[in-house]
Amino acid sequence: MADDKRLKTLAPFLQVQGFVWGPEPEIYGGLAGFYTYGPNGTLLKRRIEKRIRDVFAKHEFFEVETPTVLPKPVWEASGHLGGFTDPLIKDAKGNVYRADHLLEEYYEKHNITEPVPLKADELSKALKSYDIKSPAGEVLVGGVIEHNLMMRTTIGTEHEAYNRPETATATYLPFLRYAEHFRKKLPFGVFQIGKAYRNEISPRQHLVRMREFTQAEAQLFIDPAKKDGHRGYEEKKDVTLPVLSWKAQEQGKPFSFMKLSELREQHLGSDVYAYGLALAYELFLSFGIPSSSMRVRQHGPDEKAFYAADAWDVEVNLPTFGWTEMCGVHDRTDYDLTQHAKHSGKDQTVFVEEHGAHITPHVLEIAFGVDRPVYALLDLFYDEKDEAEGKTTLKLPYALAPVHVAVLPLVKKLSEPAQNIYQTLLSTGITVVYDESGAIGKRYLRASTIGTPYCVTVDYDTLEDNAVTVRDRDTEAQERVPVAELVAYIQNKLG
Ligand code: GLY
Repeated sequence: MADDKRLKTLAPFLQVQGFVWGPEPEIYGGLAGFYTYGPNGTLLKRRIEKRIRDVFAKHEFFEVETPTVLPKPVWEASGHLGGFTDPLIKDAKGNVYRADHLLEEYYEKHNITEPVPLKADELSKALKSYDIKSPAGEVLVGGVIEHNLMMRTTIGTEHEAYNRPETATATYLPFLRYAEHFRKKLPFGVFQIGKAYRNEISPRQHLVRMREFTQAEAQLFIDPAKKDGHRGYEEKKDVTLPVLSWKAQEQGKPFSFMKLSELREQHLGSDVYAYGLALAYELFLSFGIPSSSMRVRQHGPDEKAFYAADAWDVEVNLPTFGWTEMCGVHDRTDYDLTQHAKHSGKDQTVFVEEHGAHITPHVLEIAFGVDRPVYALLDLFYDEKDEAEGKTTLKLPYALAPVHVAVLPLVKKLSEPAQNIYQTLLSTGITVVYDESGAIGKRYLRASTIGTPYCVTVDYDTLEDNAVTVRDRDTEAQERVPVAELVAYIQNKLG
């Protein structure tokens, strides 16, 4: 259940500290689901994107970048034009709501444990049978309709087109080019980080549900005859994951820790799928999200996206919103390539020597919105009690903090040597700020409020010993470090 009170404290904190501004355009009144990342938010987001790039590259995925706007036939083929919808209902005053959310809220309020149906007609029936009204107290009218989530546009004057609602479809289109590029050797992997657009009905969950957002999606093209015996699975099979299977959900059980090999045997369709799930979990651990706040959850039969044969999510238990989907792992089989072959008239197979035949690869997808781990970190590490007491407010993992170092001359008279040190740190690529205004204690607090791990103080002794005091954010321990060793000291600490 959403903790609206916490969001009401967190969102202004993020505004004031230069993390997230909006909804945008603020000066025109703002529209839900659009945000600007301020300088600190952008630094944090880029650090997460760097981790994504590093982890995918380490697993032999190559980055690509495709168009974000594609013409209608692409979306007819992908199935998004017909099937990418949310259930919507109007009230007597014309206000529009997510039908499933209204039912969900009613069930929560009345402790009803039955699952919220996913189909429009079943939702209509349930809303009617409980005589549910809109949050404004109005009668719901006209039944539930399926609202397509894609944002429509026009290319030139004649081509109906849509902003992509996922990067995945755009990533599949050059499949024949990939096949050539990777010399027809399966498996091969590509990924894309870029914008996607969804015309959500009244999004109310800050960065978690946006109408324009950043996705990171990796696609592994595999030989369907080789979904088992995947090398990556062998490497990861002893990893332990917090698992919530569909069966456990039906029985109302909590998640339990399981080895990947057990999970594969009991619940997953293939070794390569198990590999993908473990990789997704590893990625989220690499963002500094503690395993105690995570679980991998299996989708129910009616919950899976139209293109997925097997689907699990990585979820994080957010202080504001509870268990929240962060990342989906999908076995998309040959669904997309087959659809695009049919609709484009261009064969989407690859000749595999071993089979002596052309085959259509299957696709394993790891898909997530980058803004979600950004939000998860801000929510998990923001401490409103500490903010009220004037202590470190945002205890982000050190390496992910937007600013790594604050350089502080003890008094303004020392600004020249302090500026020299600041410029040296800047030139090495360390993210550093210079702050000489206010008492030193206030400046420590200003730095630690946004999670800056190190404060470098230049004092009168610096003029004698050419050393500075480095203060650690969490331990508050102070260490004297020669200026000549400062860059290496900081780089070493940050790993
Ligand atoms: N590509 C899958 C998703 O957008 O969730």
